[in-house]
Amino acid sequence: MITSPSSSARSGTNPILLWMFSSIGKKTIVAATGILLVFFVLGHLLGNMTVFLGPDVLNAYAQKLHDLGPALWVIRIGLLGILVGHIYFTMLLWKENQRSNPKKYIAADPIKTTVFARTMRLSGLVVLSFVIFHLAHFTVRVVDPSYQVMRTQLNGQEVHNVYAMMVKGFSNGPVVAIYVVGLFLLTFHLSHGLASLFQTLGITNRRIRSNYELAGRAIAWLLFVGYVSIPISVLFFGLGKGLAQ
Ligand code: HEM
Repeated sequence: MITSPSSSARSGTNPILLWMFSSIGKKTIVAATGILLVFFVLGHLLGNMTVFLGPDVLNAYAQKLHDLGPALWVIRIGLLGILVGHIYFTMLLWKENQRSNPKKYIAADPIKTTVFARTMRLSGLVVLSFVIFHLAHFTVRVVDPSYQVMRTQLNGQEVHNVYAMMVKGFSNGPVVAIYVVGLFLLTFHLSHGLASLFQTLGITNRRIRSNYELAGRAIAWLLFVGYVSIPISVLFFGLGKGLAQ
């Protein structure tokens, strides 16, 4: 269980630690790690969209990433640290909010009354479970061990056939259902997360803030449409049929 001692008890007199565990510090860390995770999700989507350009383009893209070698591990560990930081500081904030009067908190903050806001912890947990499933599925490849031996030739080099793996993975109805639900909850999470980010950044002008909130929601739903288009195209529109060997 996460306990939340006072800022000074946790951080002594170190000004950076004092800031990190202050209310505004925690909010800023949650927002900053959230932005970095959104950048990853955007970049990952762009890379995955190469599936629509054919096996060679997607496999070459995946191979380029793997060729990064040790740098890829630095990125992976950095990403994990960002994710852990995001969850840890969110839990601390939640504890802090619980200690304050929840009724007063809701009344003072209209954004937090939306269905997106009320389900933030639940949607976050589902997204985390989805990411763990996704890593087991496509990165560790234990959900279907046949993915581990999918190889193909690319420019005279034998590489992992990510294209064939995706097509086989998304030819399975229940797997596609897991992805659609996971991606939907991710959208739910981002929809509120991006909106409340602008509040953390101190944008108090109501009109400007509602425009930013709208932009945040639009980004979240665009990500949903982009990601979901891949499994849906494979399962229902035959993407990759005859191409993935
Ligand atoms: C339809 C949706 C998605 C598809 C088709 C997809 C595809 C893939 C593939 C093929 C890999 C393995 C790449 C390789 O090892 O060569 C991968 C890894 C990964 N995916 Fe996704 N992904 C999807 C959604 C997501 C989402 C929504 C997230 C995060 C919220 C995510 C996070 C990751 C992470 C963290 C990795 C591990 C990266 C690494 O090992 O370097 N993916 N994805």
